[in-house]
Amino acid sequence: MTQHPALAVVGTGYHAPTASQLEVLEHVVIAVGADGVILGIHPQGSEAADAALRTAAQVHHLTPSQRLLPGLVDLHIHAPQWPQLGTGLDLPLERWLFEYTFPLEARYADLAFAREVWAHMVPTLLAHGTTTAVYFGSVHEPATLALAEQCVASGQRAFVGRVAMDHPEGTPTWYRDESAAAGIEASRRSVDAVRALGSALVQPIITPRFIPACSDELLHGLGALAAETGALVQTHCSESDWEHGAVLQRYGISDTHALHSMGLLREGTVLAHGNHLGADDLATIRTTGAGVAHCPLSNSYFANAVFPARRVMDAGVKVGLGTDIAGGAEPGLLAQCALAVTSSRMLHDGVDQHLPAGERGVPDSRLDVVAAFHLGTAGGADVLGIPVGRLQAGCQFDAIVVDTASAASGMRLWDEVDDHARAFEKIVRLTKPADIGAVWVAGRAVK
Ligand code: GUN
Ligand code: FE
Repeated sequence: MTQHPALAVVGTGYHAPTASQLEVLEHVVIAVGADGVILGIHPQGSEAADAALRTAAQVHHLTPSQRLLPGLVDLHIHAPQWPQLGTGLDLPLERWLFEYTFPLEARYADLAFAREVWAHMVPTLLAHGTTTAVYFGSVHEPATLALAEQCVASGQRAFVGRVAMDHPEGTPTWYRDESAAAGIEASRRSVDAVRALGSALVQPIITPRFIPACSDELLHGLGALAAETGALVQTHCSESDWEHGAVLQRYGISDTHALHSMGLLREGTVLAHGNHLGADDLATIRTTGAGVAHCPLSNSYFANAVFPARRVMDAGVKVGLGTDIAGGAEPGLLAQCALAVTSSRMLHDGVDQHLPAGERGVPDSRLDVVAAFHLGTAGGADVLGIPVGRLQAGCQFDAIVVDTASAASGMRLWDEVDDHARAFEKIVRLTKPADIGAVWVAGRAVK
């Protein structure tokens, strides 16, 4: 006997299962099982659609101006930086960390403050359509566990990592793990504590901050912990001239090769930024199954270069998108999709008007809106190895509704001129949070 849907959603949707494919699901019924899995997608009026509508426990109808999209996957968020979102972007990375960011992150020793921030941040990100979030926490175990608990309570799919950092020069005395051994043990306890929540949605992730903040012993120990626990790993990689150069100076090799030698490049490892990766780095990342979180807005402040997204994708490396809150002063991942297009165009054309046009840019760097949206949904899901980001049978129903008749943004579809491709383009470029209606994670309404 076929399973009765817990939910049936009726309307028109868009998704980008590959970087070059916009698939239009016109007037369909999406049947979702009690476990959140999409059972089937059927044309309205078909026998299967009628059966789903007859038997579903709940039916949700989109209005004619609404469109269904897969939920957004934000691969890179610094949760404790939420209170400085929109501020403090006047300093280069190495000073920004010590003067603004470490002092703020140190405050999460106060669990009550942490809880207050999480209770504001997680629902706000869900309202922006972020159905999967990959979080750096702080060094504090209680605050990190409280973040995981908030994700469970709010129904957000998440990977939550306690930050490990112990380097005597790369961290301040007042914000660091006491020793490498202490950092490894705290990370192990944090993995266990998040797993003990027993949530199918919320998983731990091992989080060495970046090489300059970590001792060799800590990095090796966390690589071993990843192998032992099977938890995913996240860190920063070749982000800026300073950071990339500091690692070259310390080891004589790039971040990528150093991280690889420590066992930290694994299937599902999320490498934030990657702006200064070379061809041999890309080959190593590809063969290990790690992926890159492209953070286009943050990169305009800290990277000293534009991430060559198209070239990295063409090298066969998995790529998704991140806000890098609060390095990027924009909490929405749909906005980052539009920014990924913009930054790729600047890379393609170049930026210095004194140079002849033919020498100004990097050819073949352009991303279109479909490719960028793919990165923000299916691309991110593929980095993490989780079945979300596509509206297709067998995937989890993590999805959002966008209203294209928008007072907030001025978006409107004109029957005379707008086909589905243009409607999709408008959604990616113009949607404001107020235009996002229903949000589901694993078939459960969370907004
Ligand atoms: N590198 C190490 N820590 C950070 C951080 O908090 N933000 C960014 N953008 N880069 C980092
Ligand atoms: Fe970051």
